Amino acid sequence: MTINNSLYYRTFQRDVYGMKMETKSTEYKTVVSDVLIIGAGGAGLRAAIEACDGGASVVIVSKSLLGKAHTVMAEGGIAASVADVDPKDNWEVHFSDTIREGVYMSDWRMVEILVKEAPKAVYELESYGALFDRTPDGKIMQRAFGAHTYKRLCHVGDKTGMELIRTLEDQVLHRDIKVMDELFITKIITKGNAVSGAFGLELRTGKFVVFQTKAIIMCSGGCGRLYKVTSNSWESTGDGVALAYNAGAVLRDMEMIQFHPTGMVYPPGVRGLLVTEGVRGEGGILLNSNGERFMLKYSPIKKELDARDVVARAIYAEIERGRGTKHGGVYLDISHMGAAFIHKKLPAMYTQFKEFAGVDITKEEMEVAPTVHYQMGGIRVDPESCKTNVKGLFAAGEVASGVHGANRLGGNSLADILVFGRRAGFSAAKYTKSAKHIYAVDEKAINEQIARVNSYASIKNPVNPYGLMERLRNAMSEHVGIIRDANGMQKALSTIKRIREKAGRVGVSGGLRFNPGLLVCLELDGMLIVAEAIIRSALERKESRGAHARSDFPKNNPNYAKNILCYKKNEEMELSMSPVPEMPDRLKKLVMT
Ligand code: FUM
Repeated sequence: MTINNSLYYRTFQRDVYGMKMETKSTEYKTVVSDVLIIGAGGAGLRAAIEACDGGASVVIVSKSLLGKAHTVMAEGGIAASVADVDPKDNWEVHFSDTIREGVYMSDWRMVEILVKEAPKAVYELESYGALFDRTPDGKIMQRAFGAHTYKRLCHVGDKTGMELIRTLEDQVLHRDIKVMDELFITKIITKGNAVSGAFGLELRTGKFVVFQTKAIIMCSGGCGRLYKVTSNSWESTGDGVALAYNAGAVLRDMEMIQFHPTGMVYPPGVRGLLVTEGVRGEGGILLNSNGERFMLKYSPIKKELDARDVVARAIYAEIERGRGTKHGGVYLDISHMGAAFIHKKLPAMYTQFKEFAGVDITKEEMEVAPTVHYQMGGIRVDPESCKTNVKGLFAAGEVASGVHGANRLGGNSLADILVFGRRAGFSAAKYTKSAKHIYAVDEKAINEQIARVNSYASIKNPVNPYGLMERLRNAMSEHVGIIRDANGMQKALSTIKRIREKAGRVGVSGGLRFNPGLLVCLELDGMLIVAEAIIRSALERKESRGAHARSDFPKNNPNYAKNILCYKKNEEMELSMSPVPEMPDRLKKLVMT
């Protein structure tokens, strides 16, 4: 790996505090590696470990700080049939649960890989030092979660994601892996149909960086921040999906956006923040403002532990019918389990409600409502290797599609990032051995990116990017939410068109260095692409299936048992339908029983 720090040329101006502000830069440094990983969440870190152990030189870039990826917000656990609590559990049952709840839209081979390899991923994490909760006889404690047949979620209280990142980060830091955090990638650069590098802006310094690389692994997470109310942290603006799309990658299932049934509703500053399914898994019940346990009506058998789409729509219906709380949610109550139990099992939930809402969950009910949580769709990958249709581009984790179909089971995402992060790292390292050349990165593409970023910081009378982003979020929330129809989605599409017309003139004052407004300008282009892909795919799917519910097509239609693909052709977004890969009989039997 070589790092060439060339001299920087800049023009300066004085800001109000008399400090120098960079308004333009034309120079860049070049970073060369076999593998570039975009994103430092669970998938990115796990991929980095495997690629490094496979002999590749590895650079990880992350938009936020190392250790602060959205993965840390994952609470309830990792789904893996280690069968420590319920000895009847095994990969076959986990397979059947995942395929059924994905409403037969998942890539069966990805699901098979996930459920077979998830237990090994848990043991491996333990070998890295993760301290899972234990049963009294010292086995891994597992909890119930929605639509999992058995108690399957291996967990660390309600802070599982944090433990996952802590242990993976420790492994990364003890290897020869370069981490460049607070760095935003603006473009993947290709030569023909192969990756040759990427262009980025170091947010802290305002310096440009050109990455020359044989392979890129996209691990940049989801797009929840396209919506006003989401459990996703600020990083989740769909950057990776847009970067891959622009590089020629095919997207799949983009219409499938998961609403987690329980996010906080109050106070406004934390609206959407995740209230783990672990609360219901540990015995929490949902009540409307009349004190009725309404899930008995919507799902008499599974009740609060039905699949997320079912519970989220039930809560939405209760609120719409006027049986919501004063802050626009329903009640979630676990106080009957007692204070000692709650402090042990759900310490983060206790602190979250006490500190943010002044609610003591050992004595009082929580107020909750659905919150945008996860994108099931994303970049289409090969199940075995995580490679995309762009040579040298791999993807893993939430940014990739295939595992979760139309609806994800809770806990399957933490399994996904470990299992497919490892596979992507392995495949990318292997690919770099046969891909002999690191191509020189196209100067024209570099200059275009330099001009693009500089223009945001120097444009006269700029349009405010925050205003446009807010309009986008309003349109997505109002028209492409938990229940959709063609009329509303067409309105959202028109709004996107109008925003795009103005997006060419966005800009900010304050220069290139550590400028949050500049980051918003950069994110906005990608967010518009992802939003358009979601809406166009959702319009195309004229039925209701899993997380995609349409009031104008309320029924499931077998003609739509297909994946919707989305890609760029002649600079336009195109869609097509593709049959879901046919499952072999040996696996069909598992799902039928
Ligand atoms: O509710 C939760 O703890 C979320 C878990 C997940 O989305 O996998």
